[in-house]
Amino acid sequence: MRAALVGIDFGRGDFTASLEELALLARSAGAEPITTITAKRSSPDPAYFVGSGKADEIGQACLAERIEIVIFNHALSPAQQRNLEKRLNVRVLDRTSLILDIFAQRAQSHEGKLQVELAQLQHLATRLIRGWTHLERQKGGIGLRGPGETQLETDRRLIGERVKMLRTRLAKLRKQHETQRRSRGRNQTFSVSLVGYTNAGKSTLFNTLTKAGVYVANQLFATLDTTSRRLYLGEETGNVVISDTVGFVRELPHQLVAAFRATLEETIHADLLLHVVDGSSPVRMEQIEQVNEVLREIGADHIPQILVWNKIDAAGLEPGVERDEYDKISRVFISAHSGAGLDLLRDAIVEAARTEPVEAADPGIALADADHIPNTPSGSTLAYVIARSPLGT
Ligand code: GTP
Repeated sequence: MRAALVGIDFGRGDFTASLEELALLARSAGAEPITTITAKRSSPDPAYFVGSGKADEIGQACLAERIEIVIFNHALSPAQQRNLEKRLNVRVLDRTSLILDIFAQRAQSHEGKLQVELAQLQHLATRLIRGWTHLERQKGGIGLRGPGETQLETDRRLIGERVKMLRTRLAKLRKQHETQRRSRGRNQTFSVSLVGYTNAGKSTLFNTLTKAGVYVANQLFATLDTTSRRLYLGEETGNVVISDTVGFVRELPHQLVAAFRATLEETIHADLLLHVVDGSSPVRMEQIEQVNEVLREIGADHIPQILVWNKIDAAGLEPGVERDEYDKISRVFISAHSGAGLDLLRDAIVEAARTEPVEAADPGIALADADHIPNTPSGSTLAYVIARSPLGT
């Protein structure tokens, strides 16, 4: 599908990177970016987001390039989207809808699909206001009579019922997962979650560490559902559970952060986060900040974290390990691609497993099982569990 991208520069520093990301997002959704139209403004226009002159310029580009869809690098209000579609005569998508679309295409598990549908319906519900059929009119026939209030009311009611049903089903699934996690917690297996900005190389690393064959692509959000595998780390540590998670992205629509909470819940319950960074990206510092912000939002910022500086082959760096002022490993330099530094990363996980006792499912169980936690004096484990339980639960 031939697409035109539109980005407005409001004077924020990350304009170019953000537009490049939009092109990647568009390709991930199956669109082909043909042209990019940019403008500078101090604030959005209430009617068209861009000025009406710019809107006409976009319209001409659409005609000249046979554009089928216009994608804005911003969140549009329902009215702006409608006005633009009327004026340009093509479908207009904003950043939120684009990301929702990719999520819908990629969701694998039953739960992932339910979550995407819920987020889409919630997004749609805000757009279900008069003038719903302005695009149908172009096709002639269908919708020419207009939906009338009754049709609108029916749509609203149906969406409301479906949203309610999805919420109930998701709540049930979440409860099941919670139970599964509890029983896993009782096993006291050290659990590690890979987090990171989309395209940082999480799936590649997951694959080379576990040889699992998870889908890797130079596309955003190749991974949508958490995948967990056991990883054997030698006699001392034994098995750990390692989970790949969905990639983070700047301005992730808020209803999606909520909808994907359950996907990220593995993250919240992990004993260690491996924060994978594309060390060759010029915007890696911003990406680290974005990821940490989402981690704060979902309450995972108290979990010990190691920065995994990936793609050192592309950045021209050597494998290595950095420690903080408490002598704890803070950063490991690797290439998931070539395998350089992976031995250092494995050692880092072993070291973390030695110094960070596994998080207890609930304090009662933890007290009973404390003696069975390997390689940790039970006295200090008890103190740790007691000190930590209000945070962990
Ligand atoms: P999402 O699923 O979108 O969250 O992405 P991800 O973080 O799982 O990234 P993925 O593993 O799919 O890798 C993204 C791209 O980076 C792919 O094209 C990989 O081949 C490439 N890549 C991963 N690791 C390395 C590396 O060490 N060096 C280089 N040069 N490329 C890498």
